[in-house]
Amino acid sequence: MSAENAPAPAIAILGTGSQVPTRTVTNDELSRTLDTSDEWIFTRTGIRERRLAGPGESSSSLAIGAARAALENAGLNPAHIDLLILATCTPDLPMPATASLVHAALGLSERAACFDLNAACSGFVTAFDTAWAMLASGRYRHALVIGSEKMSAVLDWKDRATCVLFGDGAGAVVLGPARPGSSARILDSLLGTVPGTTDLLHIPGGAVSPLFPGAPAFITMRGKEVFKFAVRGMEDVARDLLARQGLVGTDLACVIPHQANLRIIHALAQYLELPYERIFVNLEHYGNTSAASIPLALDEARRAGRLQPGGLLLLLGFGAGLTCGGALVRW
Ligand code: ACO
Repeated sequence: MSAENAPAPAIAILGTGSQVPTRTVTNDELSRTLDTSDEWIFTRTGIRERRLAGPGESSSSLAIGAARAALENAGLNPAHIDLLILATCTPDLPMPATASLVHAALGLSERAACFDLNAACSGFVTAFDTAWAMLASGRYRHALVIGSEKMSAVLDWKDRATCVLFGDGAGAVVLGPARPGSSARILDSLLGTVPGTTDLLHIPGGAVSPLFPGAPAFITMRGKEVFKFAVRGMEDVARDLLARQGLVGTDLACVIPHQANLRIIHALAQYLELPYERIFVNLEHYGNTSAASIPLALDEARRAGRLQPGGLLLLLGFGAGLTCGGALVRW
């Protein structure tokens, strides 16, 4: 067969890794300086504690740790990587991309492309979709796809309606050619955006924004509206992906949704008629780590033995934009 007619190569997840800051902050600790309580936070969100970056910890440092762990799990070394996509809305610097800092620290080759991607909490599923397309083109072979965030840097620690929800962390996957004899591969992926919803969840201030002069560079959110979109957005993505592949919810061995709020995940499970025990949830310990939440949960799910060869895995994300997306993977 000529190269012109060659089918797209099958691409699989070859390894996963994660890193979180060492400092744990519980709801009780927050309630010492904020008018809140463990009871309010836990019953509204399912969150008990989160990790917060300390001195020397940043989106790049967490990404580097997660990437090294993913490479080790994949049995590959930095020389194999020719593409690095880092999803973050909390880059170390406006320029260069945090991906460049990670590229340098890992010692990737001069022919390894790297860039940051910002789709807020949908960042990981967006980077995953992008990397899959680039690898399937045959022009790249092994990709590091990382979600890494230092959300603590963009929170107003006096705003109890937002600061209790988020945490810091990073997760990474290595994507590459499906291994011979293995059925593991990415089956499908899709992304979407709801127009006219940018002000429901945003950081209005910023170094270069002409839109909100003088506004603080902190997250502001209309929580109830975001909640409704999150459930509907992830439900629609799941239904579309399953329908496209001729599958139903009970075919799924494991679902890893964006870890924002346990009530969102309960509603999603109910609408999709998914057995709840097939949904992997770790937000109790990390809160919402934005673009890091799905790869961090994926790495924990793998290490906990929740992913078995041949099982169908569904990743589902939503975030500011408002954006959503998901991917269907055979493990
Ligand atoms: N502790 C105690 N009381 C609080 C707190 C707190 N931390 N935060 C808010 N309250 C109060 C409010 O002031 C309000 O008081 P009032 O009735 O006297 O005015 C009351 O609790 C109820 O507030 P609501 O906002 O109505 O609470 P709700 O039940 O909607 O829960 C929540 C709020 C948890 C934020 C919910 O709306 C939610 O989870 N929304 C989705 C948010 C989300 O997932 N965001 C991440 C998006 S992903 C990304 O891209 C970043």
